[in-house]
Amino acid sequence: MIVDKAGTPITATDNVQPDTRHGVILYVEDVSVSFDGFKALNDLNLYINDGELRCLIGANGAGKTTLMDVITGKIRPDTGKVNFGQQVDLLQLDESEIARVGIGRKFQKPTVFEALSVYKNIELSLAGDKGIWTSLFGKLTGEQRDRIDEILRTIGLTNEAFYMAERLSHGQKQWLEIGMLLAAEPRVLLVDEPVAGMTGQETERTAELLTSLAGEHSVVVVEHDMAFVRSIARTVTVLHQGSVLAEGSMSEVQSNPEVIKVYLGEDSGEDSGDDNSEGYPSESGEEYIEASSSKEG
Ligand SMILES: Nc1ncnc2c1ncn2[C@@H]1O[C@H](COP(=O)(O)OP(=O)(O)OP(=O)(O)O)[C@@H](O)[C@H]1O
Ligand SMILES: [Mg+2]
Repeated sequence: MIVDKAGTPITATDNVQPDTRHGVILYVEDVSVSFDGFKALNDLNLYINDGELRCLIGANGAGKTTLMDVITGKIRPDTGKVNFGQQVDLLQLDESEIARVGIGRKFQKPTVFEALSVYKNIELSLAGDKGIWTSLFGKLTGEQRDRIDEILRTIGLTNEAFYMAERLSHGQKQWLEIGMLLAAEPRVLLVDEPVAGMTGQETERTAELLTSLAGEHSVVVVEHDMAFVRSIARTVTVLHQGSVLAEGSMSEVQSNPEVIKVYLGEDSGEDSGDDNSEGYPSESGEEYIEASSSKEG
């Protein structure tokens, strides 16, 4: 049986409301993960505030994806604590339970159903098992239709609602996948490298979309594209060798000597942002430092 910290049983289908009285929705404390003795996460501490949009940056191998794997239950940490709100211990839940309590994750590669319409893709993702059941055998309620329309508006695909998903551009597929996540009504959205491979225009729209989701949701974005991070970030957390190296506003972390050293050091220029093939300014460590010397704001 799964119980929360107060000993109250939690069943996976319960609509678990995280206790965010202290303003924090995600607590990651002293978390370490090792792979064959190599510490991918090393005593990592991270607190995500309810409704905030947080950017996570760091060189390749810094531990960003591993952190998302820990939060979503894909990887169990060796040590540490991961809580959803004050009381729900995520380390006691499995991956699907974590998704159901309200933590949605978007992987880099979109996993939409290509041969179904945009609308149907969202319909299948509606919260609860009833979503699929209704989709296959029944009619949508008015409320469900309103919800789908609202999601279509949010992700900017109202006009494409009855296109087969295979007709969508790469960027549109990414938005559809965000829409499918939204259908499950998550409180927290974890988004790993959302703009890789997007055109400049798609990147801008993604910035608007993620910004608009914050508030009602807490959004954690991992991204190498520094122009993008700069355009959306309120608070940036810099990971380095599995720990938090710095945290603050973009201009604060950019002028942090430790951060500059790390980006100028062995890791610079190894940005995986270069799988961005559409010519959006993918920024290397060098540009990062350049920006830091002409500190904004
Ligand atoms: N399953 C695994 N087995 C062994 N080592 C792993 C595994 N997953 C990750 N690692 C290692 O852990 C470290 C952190 O990897 P992680 O994928 O979290 O980095 P990242 O910050 O997401 O990097 P990138 O920016 O390249 O996506 C890397 O050195 C990686 O090689
Ligand atoms: Mg990664």
